[in-house]
Amino acid sequence: MIINVVRNYCELSKTAADVVQSVIINKPNAVLGLPTGSTPIGMYNELIRMYRERNIDFSEVTTFNLDEYYGMSYENEKSYHYYMQRNFFSHININPSNINIPNGIAKDIEKECIAYDMKIKECGGIDLLILGIGHNGHIGFNEPSNEMIMNTHLTNLAEETVMANARFFKGHDESPEKAITMGLEGIMSSRQIMLLVNGKDKTAAVRRLLTRDKVSPEFPASFLHVHNNVMVVINEDAIEEFNLIHKHIS
Ligand code: F6R
Repeated sequence: MIINVVRNYCELSKTAADVVQSVIINKPNAVLGLPTGSTPIGMYNELIRMYRERNIDFSEVTTFNLDEYYGMSYENEKSYHYYMQRNFFSHININPSNINIPNGIAKDIEKECIAYDMKIKECGGIDLLILGIGHNGHIGFNEPSNEMIMNTHLTNLAEETVMANARFFKGHDESPEKAITMGLEGIMSSRQIMLLVNGKDKTAAVRRLLTRDKVSPEFPASFLHVHNNVMVVINEDAIEEFNLIHKHIS
């Protein structure tokens, strides 16, 4: 695991966008795994800037999003479909048929999940997966549990996730309780993973990740320690209270 500590959110966003750019330069038809939430917004803005300056071409790129809220349609402006269009896809030259996001209103959710995993495989797997991390260590919406689910699946969001996401809704009561998420296999079979960590509120999660007591589904991000190509980009805000970096680079 490579730990890259950056000074601020702007540097985190630029570092992340540079990694995406180099993957696409090396492989113009790269397959990307993408997150939503607050953390990647700066990276998406940076990638849009690169596209406008003709320094990146998404025409052959394929994307798979990590997750979507259950029961939310494409048109719902709180959906991750809408988020991705507004914050990224509508500003770049990606081919709409190369965009994949779980369908939160699929009639048959199980079939939808199987088809999603199948499509990732058919596309040759994910070259670069970008992740954020939850306060409780979730990656995608794989929440702490006593078992990790391998395939894409419908999941109950942890209460702390519902609370954290309430900021995007009118409040806790409107914050969704279920989501479809890529499972551990989709994540771990990605050839390269980049985890973005921003904000003081992530200190406890990043401390637990870097102290690496054990790999356990109780702290899903711990599985990143058994992947051989992970870069963690951390805004120093998230680590200011402790200094474990040199000790835990492996
Ligand atoms: C979102 C996702 C989540 C978020 C995580 C952090 O697609 O998969 O795991 O990355 O909840 O969210 P933010 O960036 O809002 O702190």
